[in-house]
Amino acid sequence: MPRSPISLLSRTDFNGDLLDEELFLRTFHQLMEEHGYVQVCNVPNDFDYVRFCQSLGRFVPNYTGAVIGDVRPEPGMDDVYHAGNTRPLTPHSEGYDFSVLPPRYIALWCVTPAQGPGGETTLADTTDWVAALEEDERAWLQNTEYEWKTTEGVNRLGLDLHTKHPILEDHPNGRIVRFSCNNLIRDDDDLSARVQEHWRHRFDEEHVAIHYQRNDMLVWDNWRLLHARNAFSDRSRHLRRIQVAAA
Ligand SMILES: [Fe+2]
Repeated sequence: MPRSPISLLSRTDFNGDLLDEELFLRTFHQLMEEHGYVQVCNVPNDFDYVRFCQSLGRFVPNYTGAVIGDVRPEPGMDDVYHAGNTRPLTPHSEGYDFSVLPPRYIALWCVTPAQGPGGETTLADTTDWVAALEEDERAWLQNTEYEWKTTEGVNRLGLDLHTKHPILEDHPNGRIVRFSCNNLIRDDDDLSARVQEHWRHRFDEEHVAIHYQRNDMLVWDNWRLLHARNAFSDRSRHLRRIQVAAA
């Protein structure tokens, strides 16, 4: 059984009135610091997602150039590994295929929830996984520049991205973890292959599953947490998406 998320923040207070905005922001940042993600619930229809995300940092455009992206099944994309269909996604971080730093935060909000089972965004924290590495393993993952490619779905949009980055990178604002089960180019006997297998197993064991109600917003620290998605069948499922750059 997947765990339920415990980092939940209500946009409204106990009376059902909007929570004071300053208090809302303060609690948001406390929960983010503690858990690395926040699911915001009880969100009114007129909530300004874009303005809220602007308070987190500068926006990074999505692959298509759209700054506010749509995540929903797209025509002709059912046969590839891609967010724009109904298939599962394996644990990954966002932006390993960017030449710049990966986005710090990813925000998703729910326009139309999926009817029926599936469609949860799943998340797990890598902090303990990195701490559990042997010192020489951690040094290897920090000092080895791996090649990364982009997903089949993004290829089909006409983008063929190739980057070189380590899996672990220490940055003044925190540790960056880059991870993919399918787009990291490595030899089968490389340490990264064992890390992929082990972390995928730990993700399966430890993830929380975010089930969206209409208007819910999920924000996570993409330097620290991995995310994935459960398959679903309702093609009307629709999320919107903003990537926020490192401060
Ligand atoms: Fe993703």
